[in-house]
Amino acid sequence: MITTALTELCGIRVPIVQGGMQWVGKPSLAAAVSDAGGLGILTALTQPSPEALREAIRETRKLTDKPFGVNITLLPSINPPDYEGYAKAAVSEGIRIFETAGNNPGPLIKFFKSKGCIVIHKCTTIRHAKSAERMGVDVLSIDGFECAGHPGEEDIGGVVLLARAAQELKIPYIASGGFADARGLVAALALGAAGVNMGTRFMCTVESPIHQTIKEKIVASSEQDTVHIFRSLRNTARVFRNKIASEVVALERRPGGAKFEDLRELVSGVRGRVVYEIGDPDYGIWTAGIAMGLIEDIPTCEELLKRIESEAEAEIERMGRMVRVKSKL
Ligand SMILES: Cc1cc2nc3c(=O)[nH]c(=O)nc-3n(C[C@H](O)[C@H](O)[C@H](O)COP(=O)(O)O)c2cc1C
Repeated sequence: MITTALTELCGIRVPIVQGGMQWVGKPSLAAAVSDAGGLGILTALTQPSPEALREAIRETRKLTDKPFGVNITLLPSINPPDYEGYAKAAVSEGIRIFETAGNNPGPLIKFFKSKGCIVIHKCTTIRHAKSAERMGVDVLSIDGFECAGHPGEEDIGGVVLLARAAQELKIPYIASGGFADARGLVAALALGAAGVNMGTRFMCTVESPIHQTIKEKIVASSEQDTVHIFRSLRNTARVFRNKIASEVVALERRPGGAKFEDLRELVSGVRGRVVYEIGDPDYGIWTAGIAMGLIEDIPTCEELLKRIESEAEAEIERMGRMVRVKSKL
C-alpha cells in the first residue's frame, strides 16, 4: 500500500482521484472508482438540478459504501447554474468531500469549510493555488498544461508546476493532467504530490457511462489527437481533435478572429453530450487529454487501480535499489 496525506485525509486506499467530468462523472463511474480504492467524484452540473444531484448521490451510495465526493465547477456564464443549491443538496445528503474548480471559488469554499467538509481545489497556477490555500482548502489539485479541459492561459507543464508547488505550498497537493499509469503516479509522488487526479484515463473504463465507440476511439488515439479551442477567447480548452474542433480553431484563426457568438452552435454542450450517447466522435466537441497516448485498453476501475498500485509499488522498489549505501570501511 502507498500511504500519503491524501489517502489518510480521505480514507481511501489508493492515492488516485477521479476528477469531475461533465457528462461522465455519473454514479456508475464514481462508485466504481471508490469501490476500487480511489476517490470517485460525481459531477454536480451533469445533473439537471440540485434535486437530481440528490438522487445521483443516493444511487452512488447504493453501489458503494466507500467515500466519494462531488465536483462543483464554476463556469463563466451569463446565466449561472444554482451552485449554492447543488452545494447545499450535496452537503445535506452527507457528502463530506468536494472538488471545486473554476472562477471565484471563495464563497463555495467558505460554505463547505463551515460544514466541516474536505475541499480539494483544482487550479492551474501557483498564484491561484496559494490563494485557495489562504481560503482554507485542504488539498490542491494542480492541473498542468497536459490536462484535458481547461489548462488556463499560462501553459506551464506539470513537471515545473508541481516542482513549484513543492516550493510554495504548505498543504498537500495532488498532480493532475497527463496521468494514466503507475509511472505517472510515481513521478507525481517524486514531485512532492500526495497522489494523482485522472480524467481521460477513467473515461476509458468499463464503468464509464459513455458509448463503447468513444472508448475505442480513445484507445486508438495518440497524444497528438487533441487540440486547444477558445485560445483566442482566453478560455482555452483541450478537446479531442475532430472535424468540429478543427473548424472552431480555423474560425478563431481567420483574419479578425471569432467571437463566442460565432462558435456557439459548433461548441454546444448538448452536442458534446450526444457524442457520448450515440458514439459518434464527430458529432460535437468533447473533452480528452494527451493521456490518450498512454491508454491502450478498457479495464474495469478495479483492474486499473490494482494495476497502477502494484506497478507503482514495484517501480518505487526498483528506484530504491538505485540507491547504494556507501561502504563504511
Ligand atoms: C470528459 C471530461 C470532462 C471534464 N469535465 C470537467 C468538469 O466539468 N469540471 C472540472 O473541474 N474538470 C473537468 N475535467 C477535467 C478533469 O477533472 C481533470 O482535471 C483532467 O481530466 C485531468 O487531465 P487528464 O485528462 O489528462 O487526466 C474534465 C475532463 C474530461 C476528460
